[in-house]
Amino acid sequence: MRLSAPACRGSVLEWADTRSLRQPVVTPLLIQSLIWSNVSVPPEKLLISNVDGTLLGQDDALARFAAWFDARGDELGLVYNTGRNYDSVVELVHNTDLPDPVAIIGGVGTDIRLYPSGERLEEWPRRFRAWNAASIRSIVASYPELTQQEWEQQSAWKVSFFGLGLSEQYLRELKRNLQSLGYRVKVIYSANNYLDIVPAEAGKGTAAVFLASHWRVPPERVFVCGDSGNDLSMFFCRFRGIVVGNGHPELKALNGPHIFHSSELFAAGVVDGMEHWLQEG
Ligand code: GLC
Repeated sequence: MRLSAPACRGSVLEWADTRSLRQPVVTPLLIQSLIWSNVSVPPEKLLISNVDGTLLGQDDALARFAAWFDARGDELGLVYNTGRNYDSVVELVHNTDLPDPVAIIGGVGTDIRLYPSGERLEEWPRRFRAWNAASIRSIVASYPELTQQEWEQQSAWKVSFFGLGLSEQYLRELKRNLQSLGYRVKVIYSANNYLDIVPAEAGKGTAAVFLASHWRVPPERVFVCGDSGNDLSMFFCRFRGIVVGNGHPELKALNGPHIFHSSELFAAGVVDGMEHWLQEG
């Protein structure tokens, strides 16, 4: 099945609720307090990338990316958008060739923090404050096909399980069941094994839109990169997309003028994709 990627629409499973995108993303309060925090000059362009399986995966490709990025650091703000939590990304930044980002979107689009200050954009989780992760976790724990991920992977806005080879129908029914119990959720399945349940307003795509709006970077100057299911929603927001050559089928199926499929792997695919988009102007 080929998926085309029109502006800010997505698969039923990932893009459960686009209402938050129709509401103004930048509130008057936020505009008032628009100081660029640790970013003295707001980034002109944003490179928003997944980490594991996209930038991480091949050391020489990452070294190539780091050198490429180093030459462009001033015009391009780098943002990591990942299923990991903030602390775990910071550890990677300290211990690998991953360059310093300007911000980290963690927990599959549930947490946005500036780097290196760690300051959280509180306006973002405020949109889904009423969510009840503990109840959802205990309901989903009774599904025999699923095993709960470690406690460090859980948060007040992210419920994460492992489940090998789950079908679309299974995921749809899980979501329907939670909705019928009154929970507003987005069910996200990645790499044929990782199951994340987050508030309907959250997810990597809406969080990326929020951050780009916060810095007033228009979508045509935002580049998003990924390899698996939890990245899908970033490709439906009029951003310019890069799918790395080792991408999973759920991303390989994307298609449309905003999507570039690189034949190169991991971080080398990101460099390849960025060169493609930057020469388009
Ligand atoms: C990361 C997170 C994990 C999540 C997965 C897919 O590996 O640590 O909790 O399920 O990304 O989003």
